[in-house]
Formats: sequence, C-alpha cells, structure tokens
Amino acid sequence: LKFALLLPAAGSGTRLGSALPKALVEFAGEPMFVRALHPFLAFESLAAVVIAAPREHLSAFRDAVGELNARVEVRVIAGGETRQDSVGLALDAVQFFAVGAVLVHDAARPLVNTATIQRVLDGLDRDVVAVLPGLPVSDTLKAASGDPLLVTATVPRDGLYAVQTPQGVRYDAAVAAHQRARAEAVQCTDDVALIERFGLGRVRICEGDTLNFKITSPADLRLARLLAREP
Ligand code: C5P
Repeated sequence: LKFALLLPAAGSGTRLGSALPKALVEFAGEPMFVRALHPFLAFESLAAVVIAAPREHLSAFRDAVGELNARVEVRVIAGGETRQDSVGLALDAVQFFAVGAVLVHDAARPLVNTATIQRVLDGLDRDVVAVLPGLPVSDTLKAASGDPLLVTATVPRDGLYAVQTPQGVRYDAAVAAHQRARAEAVQCTDDVALIERFGLGRVRICEGDTLNFKITSPADLRLARLLAREP
C-alpha cells in the first residue's frame, strides 16, 4: 500500500510563546517539522510528502525541505484557517500521486518513531478505513465547571484512549470525509473524527507511544528537547 504523508504545520507559535511558527522552532539542530517528518522517509511505501505551512513562511519551509535530499517529492503548500482546512488542502495536492492511504502527522510531534508508523501502516487492512495510535488514559478524569472550579463528576476512564498521530486513513475515505465536511461546513479536531461522524467505516486504535506527545507549551518543548538528546 503506497501512502502519502500529510504534515499539518501551519499553526502559530502562540501557546509556545514563540514569534516563529511552532513548526520552524529549532529542535535538536533542525526545524521541528523536519524532525517530525524524518522517520517517515525510511519507508519504501512512502510516495510523497505534502506540508501545509503558514502562508507568510513558505520560503523558510521550502529552504529547509531543499536540504532534505528526500527520495520522494516533498511539496510545501499554504495551509488554512484550521488544522482540518490545512489537511484538506494537503489532501487536494495528493491527488496526482496515486496513493492508497494518507498518514496525517502533526508537525508538533517531533519524537515520533518508526515503530509507531509501522503499527499504523500494519493496522490499515481491508476491514478498517482508519488507524490511529492511542494510549489508555491513566489519570483519573474529573468533570468540573465554574469559578471557583468545582468538581461535578468523576468520569470512568475504562475504555478511554488518548490518541496521537500519525493517523492513517484510506485515501478514498479521506477524500470523502473532507468533501462532505466542506459541503456541510463541519469542523472536527482530527480527520478520523470526520470519518466517525459521517459513518464512513471502522476505525482501529493501535498502540501509541508515551514519547510521541504533542508540543504545545514551553514545558513540552523543554522536555522534548531533553529527550531528543538521548542516544
Ligand atoms: O495547534 P495544535 O498544536 O493543536 O495543531 C496541531 C497541528 O496542526 C500542528 O502541527 C499545527 O501546525 C497544525 N495546524 C495547521 N493549520 C492550522 C492550525 C494548526 O496545519 N490552521
């Protein structure tokens, strides 16, 4: 199964307290998005990469991509208003590559490893349309509201999973989900949520990786940089 990597990287660095977009923040000697896409280049079945970047920073992204010497075409396009819009635009750019699936991976998860990518690819068989890595929730969950913030309930965590990327989606299902989302002006936090919402097929969870967390806060960035230094 040939796949394309879609890398949504068009977010700002606001929550990180950075003037640069998060994906361009220096991480272990390279821009964060380069680190996040590197492990994917090792896969023979990778056919193309499409990166959705902030419109004002396209040249910085293209310069970094130029240094990659990738075996496959790596295209940089302007992203959209939301993550979903960025993924939709990246998906439009994939139509010329004849792939059976797309893997959508956050540029903000630079510690992804090849074992996780392999589990996602292995999970995409004929019986499912999407696969995503997830970890069972280990913290106790509370519902709370108001100011002062008061607990209203304890949410049973049995059967709850915190999900990560890369999320693998069969190409036809991804296109159908995004077309329908555009037509009906539906926004979801991830592409798999669109698949669920429109009932396009079964979605499987494979084993995630604790270290594959998303960098959101300055503390996340510090932690990830420490981990990246380990051999
Ligand atoms: O903001 P957050 O970290 O949740 O975004 C997840 C991923 O989606 C990031 O890699 C970010 O660059 C990307 N994104 C995007 N286009 C947007 C907003 C976010 O590609 N408009």
